[in-house]
Amino acid sequence: MSERDPLVAGNWKMNGDAGSLDLLLDGVLSELSVLALRRCSVLVFPPYVYLGQVAQKLRGSIVGVGSQDVDQRTQGAVTGGVSAAMVKDAGCGFVLVGHSERRTLFAESDELVSDKFEQCGSQGLVPIVCVGETLEERRRDRTIEVVTRQLRAVTSRVGLAGFDGAMIAYEPVWAIGTGESATPEQAEEVHAGLRKCLAELDEDLSNRTRILYGGSVTADNAVALFGMKNVDGALVGGASLKANSFAEICKAAEES
Ligand code: 13P
Repeated sequence: MSERDPLVAGNWKMNGDAGSLDLLLDGVLSELSVLALRRCSVLVFPPYVYLGQVAQKLRGSIVGVGSQDVDQRTQGAVTGGVSAAMVKDAGCGFVLVGHSERRTLFAESDELVSDKFEQCGSQGLVPIVCVGETLEERRRDRTIEVVTRQLRAVTSRVGLAGFDGAMIAYEPVWAIGTGESATPEQAEEVHAGLRKCLAELDEDLSNRTRILYGGSVTADNAVALFGMKNVDGALVGGASLKANSFAEICKAAEES
């Protein structure tokens, strides 16, 4: 569907160093040049300290750069904090907010995630809000309730205009780094639920907002996942750390 061209994003998390990430990028750029992508957009999310290096290397390429997180405050006495203006200055156009690792390891609440989302918008950065249920919540049949609560926390804060252009990543917590991806049908059901939730705000916005799937995406399961109507791409962790598997996933998205 040309209204929602696919997008594949690599979340490098807390991996690599200056040398290895440089090599990884060389590999990704060389693999992608062979693919000559026309529809699929590609992003990478390096650790903070490598944002400038990666952005500089990718300038003029087809690969965009994003930050894995951002502080909710604008500036000032926040030791260790990194602002939206700073990541933009380093060359980022995108920011992940509310990744489940942030929600769990750093106790980020729906409210804080909304604060961060709002900060991104105020700097002209494109936020990708991550939502997802735990295994316990899925077992209790609360998946849709949980992900729509996480999404509504943001949409009710920023409204229609503030959400326009943003993206959603559905990442079931139980599928992250476990090798156990959601099935295409499970992903589709949740993506459709999220789209319905957005449609309550605005039908057009809902139709044009990209919803990525994340959680053990590999070159092997990507084709089936991207075959689903409401799966518009992927947020890839482990498989984004190898140039060939990441490029295979981009190829699957391009051909979806
Ligand atoms: P994995 O692809 O390693 O499961 O990680 C998914 C993820 O958390 C991407 O943000």
